[in-house]
Amino acid sequence: MDSKKTVLVSGGAGYIGTHTTVALIEAGYDVVVIDNFSNSEASALDGVEKIVGRKVVFGEIDTCDIKALRGVFERHAFDTVIHFAAYKAVGESMDEPLKYYQNNLVSYMNVLEMMKEFKRPNVLFSSSATVYGNAEELPVTEESPRQPATSPYGNTKQIAEDILRDCCAAYEGFRGIALRYFNPIGAHPSALIGELPSGVPNNLVPFITQTAAGIRQSLSIFGNDYNTPDGTCLRDYIDINDLARAHVAAVDRMTDGRMQTRYEIFNVGTGRPVSVLELVTRFEKANGLKLPYRFAERRSGDVPAVWADTARANKELGWKAERDLDDTLRSAWEWEKHIRHIQ
Ligand code: UFG
Repeated sequence: MDSKKTVLVSGGAGYIGTHTTVALIEAGYDVVVIDNFSNSEASALDGVEKIVGRKVVFGEIDTCDIKALRGVFERHAFDTVIHFAAYKAVGESMDEPLKYYQNNLVSYMNVLEMMKEFKRPNVLFSSSATVYGNAEELPVTEESPRQPATSPYGNTKQIAEDILRDCCAAYEGFRGIALRYFNPIGAHPSALIGELPSGVPNNLVPFITQTAAGIRQSLSIFGNDYNTPDGTCLRDYIDINDLARAHVAAVDRMTDGRMQTRYEIFNVGTGRPVSVLELVTRFEKANGLKLPYRFAERRSGDVPAVWADTARANKELGWKAERDLDDTLRSAWEWEKHIRHIQ
């Protein structure tokens, strides 16, 4: 086995993990997926296998369990890990901070500890645009200041970025890339994989698709009195397949020795702000349906606007977002129909 060509994907059964696993395999990488299914289902991997047409190497492992994790490092030769495994509900993190610090940071440090022990050099970390908070200047570049985190979830992203920076500075041979995701949406064009939110969705697009499916009565648009063109919040919605390709580009960069410093950060977005209302209207048009919605109070913790300057990712990663927003919104609806058995 060519170890340079194998990637360990933690949290590989999740929303971003499944799409990235597909993109890596399609790019010629071998992938070892680990997941404990705490917020995902084994059926997600069936979808991946159908798309790529072969079995995926998988272990049901909790990355907080260092013994189990050591076994994965002993059994598989890989030089690169993509660490997705984490809890991600902002609101829940406010109610249960210790659950978030414990799970998200212990699992991450276990992975780093094993990378160090087994001398595996490359770490790709899932960070978030949440680190920019309510930015003073838009679009945000990677040099824009990070704002103090407004949730334990956001804080785990900031702390994890700093831990990776420090490990890359301290340990010979360690290389790290943090990808700061904007708002990932949509599903694979095959509708075989997509997002599987548990309970009432927090995020906009899953709420939209569940409303379209009749599972939710009406969408609440949180705030229409922001200082934005139509009064609703602006976000940078990035197609999940484009986001997955950004991981492949980052892994290529790490394994080809093209990194300029040992720790790098990239924004992964489209560079295009879209308002909540515009997204709802685009979803309706793209799918030929009407969505019941109403304007509601602002949601606490929401920033009015954030979108990415993508120049660094375009130039250094040789990556840019390509998928048309309407296609993305169609894929989101196709996926919802697939899981709800709607014709
Ligand atoms: N929104 C609604 N109604 C809903 C859900 C969302 O109007 O039912 C609005 C929000 O108010 C926001 C926009 O849609 O203006 C996007 O909301 P999401 O929850 O989909 O996404 P966020 O931008 O809030 O969240 C993203 C990531 C999180 C991250 C957070 C921090 O998904 O992981 O940014 O800024 F923590």
